[in-house]
Amino acid sequence: MRVLHISTECYPAAKAGGMGDVVGALPLYSGNEGIEASVIIPMYDLQWFRDQKFKSIYQGSFHLDWEYIEFEVLQLESDTLNYPFYCISIPGKFDRNSVYLAEDGEGFKDEVERNTSFQRAVLLWVNAHSDSFDVLHCHDHQTGLIPFFASHGDVFVNLRNMPTYYTIHNAAYRGMWDWKHRQLLPAFNEEHIGLLDWDHHIHSFATGIKCCWGYSTVSPSYLDEIAHNSGNLNWLYDHTKEKSRGILNGIDTAFWNPKTDPFLDQVLKRSWKVFKSKNKEALCKRYGLNKSSPLFSFIGRLAYQKGADIITESISNILAQDKDACFVVLGSGSHELESAFRNLENSFPGKVKALIMYNEEVAHTIYAGSDFLLMPSRFEPCGLNQMFAMRYGTIPVVHSTGGLIDTVTDIDQGGFGIRFNAADFVHLRDAILRGISFYEDADRFVKTREEATKVDFSWNNSIRIYKEEYQKIINKKQ
Ligand code: GLC
Repeated sequence: MRVLHISTECYPAAKAGGMGDVVGALPLYSGNEGIEASVIIPMYDLQWFRDQKFKSIYQGSFHLDWEYIEFEVLQLESDTLNYPFYCISIPGKFDRNSVYLAEDGEGFKDEVERNTSFQRAVLLWVNAHSDSFDVLHCHDHQTGLIPFFASHGDVFVNLRNMPTYYTIHNAAYRGMWDWKHRQLLPAFNEEHIGLLDWDHHIHSFATGIKCCWGYSTVSPSYLDEIAHNSGNLNWLYDHTKEKSRGILNGIDTAFWNPKTDPFLDQVLKRSWKVFKSKNKEALCKRYGLNKSSPLFSFIGRLAYQKGADIITESISNILAQDKDACFVVLGSGSHELESAFRNLENSFPGKVKALIMYNEEVAHTIYAGSDFLLMPSRFEPCGLNQMFAMRYGTIPVVHSTGGLIDTVTDIDQGGFGIRFNAADFVHLRDAILRGISFYEDADRFVKTREEATKVDFSWNNSIRIYKEEYQKIINKKQ
């Protein structure tokens, strides 16, 4: 079974969020189930690409409205990734030092041209090598038009019977474009034009769902949530539910391994107690925090989805009450939230550290050194941070939503996390206060966090389910 993952992110080559982690990990673990997985993404002007050697394996061109696009498919020469990795060089479109965002922090203005040219280049290449793959696995709306054009695009005749699978990492991003952009699309059979449309727009996300042979969300609870709370998309989910499935993400347990993690001051030897206290000590020393207070952290985009605004409010409320707790925040995002966190650090020196950046190494030291990880996400398709946290003996404090429901059980229900029912400041504040008292119950706290490290978040289970799904769609082939 040969599966090609088509995505705009793949760690370590290019990552903007969790989708990058997942696309980077899926092919690594697919082999265990006999799936030969490979990946194709755009070639960006990022350090990782500069450090690698590629060989050119295909060249092609097309007219993107008035532009003539020449592209090249390159294959990674070394086997550092342990699976075949391809990237597409499209000069003028992807040779930039960021995956999605321009200097001003906003999305690139030519998203439509970028997404269509990537998808068209992939389609041309795969059409010329259709015997090499059994399934095309598309990730999020950036690749949502591929299932349509495989079936109905004039020139992609070898893909008519190619099974396509579509994974929704985040249903809030949809790739909706005005129909005036139609000239960017390759020629297709007009009879089927309705499949491209939703809400009077070219709608990459809805098109992906309509035209794929099967689709998944990255957790079962998220599938349930979006099926009922997506306005007029509810109808679409309802009519396609027989081909949908919620498949929980795993994490790359070889990379996220407390015993070997190269980023840590102290790796895990025999004792979790030693591991936690040494890493906490190092973290607190580095950021000038008190190591005997309970330490709550947040890692992620400073964005509305992640509930970052609720965190600032809760922290100032708790510290204004003189409660004993420290906070570390690592992330960047909305400028307003960035300065809110900087202000908090100024108001509560020695209690709050605001690291306005993203840095993989620092993230690892925070997972290892913290007592609690805050995730007040308003919605969360899966969420990976809670799993990284538990693997490193850190108790997640999460809003009961999406994948957080499927991965975190409350300490009062026999689990290893703290859950709360509404993403607002009062609920989060109360959850943090619960965390503070839980920390004081030292024996139970220490025992619980050690139990948390034993939960199996590996990919094994989910890869088996993906395999079933791939098999189902392959069986539909005529
Ligand atoms: C997106 C979602 C996140 C999920 C990740 C990987 O970033 O917001 O919840 O874990 O994709 O699927």
